[in-house]
Amino acid sequence: MAFIPTKPGTLLSPAPAVMVTCARAGERPNIITIAWAGTVNSDPPMVSVSVRPGRHSHPIIRDTGEFVVNLVGRELLKAADFCGVRSGRDTDKFAACGLEAVPAEGMSQAPAIAQSPVWLACKVRSALELGSHTMFIGEVVSAGVREDLSDPSGRFDFLKAGLVAYCHGEYAGLTRALGFFGFSVARPEVLKRRMNK
Ligand SMILES: Cc1cc2nc3c(=O)[nH]c(=O)nc-3n(C[C@H](O)[C@H](O)[C@H](O)COP(=O)(O)O)c2cc1C
Repeated sequence: MAFIPTKPGTLLSPAPAVMVTCARAGERPNIITIAWAGTVNSDPPMVSVSVRPGRHSHPIIRDTGEFVVNLVGRELLKAADFCGVRSGRDTDKFAACGLEAVPAEGMSQAPAIAQSPVWLACKVRSALELGSHTMFIGEVVSAGVREDLSDPSGRFDFLKAGLVAYCHGEYAGLTRALGFFGFSVARPEVLKRRMNK
């Protein structure tokens, strides 16, 4: 297979599209859409979000040392896009998108978004200046999963939530499971049970 040489860039895809919430005392809470986000440690659970210093959210996260990562399902996609093209400097994004801010355990200011399928409340453990972005690494100190998106066994149903990924400037929704962890070596009866669900 031949490859066309291309400019080195941020081609890693899909990236999660998430809505990161933050707040400072005496100011309205804000939402910034982030695609440069990832899981970076399991124990303790840690995630990263990379934020350009010019964003309204940047000094809020830096000064308060906390943020909430809200996953985006299909119902939130339009709001997520809006929160990625308008700044909290001049827009109340919660009000503009009709979203509700709810307290997140362990956070002193940053709220979660009530409509989000899953939220992760994080305390900043380190901030790396990488060039264009500051990577805030946060320890997940509490989390919430929307009740209506759990299956009967209590597992989060990501297909029902229609979680959204960001791929080269476009959004795509997860709608079909293609396998499960370890399916390549699973016994035939396990494969049958799990894949025919
Ligand atoms: C899909 C999408 C992904 C984005 N990812 C990032 C990101 O990873 N880091 C970042 O600093 N800005 C990112 N942005 C841009 C910010 O969300 C945007 O500049 C926003 O208006 C900043 O809001 P604020 O000024 O209220 O903080 C993204 C925007 C979109 C639409």
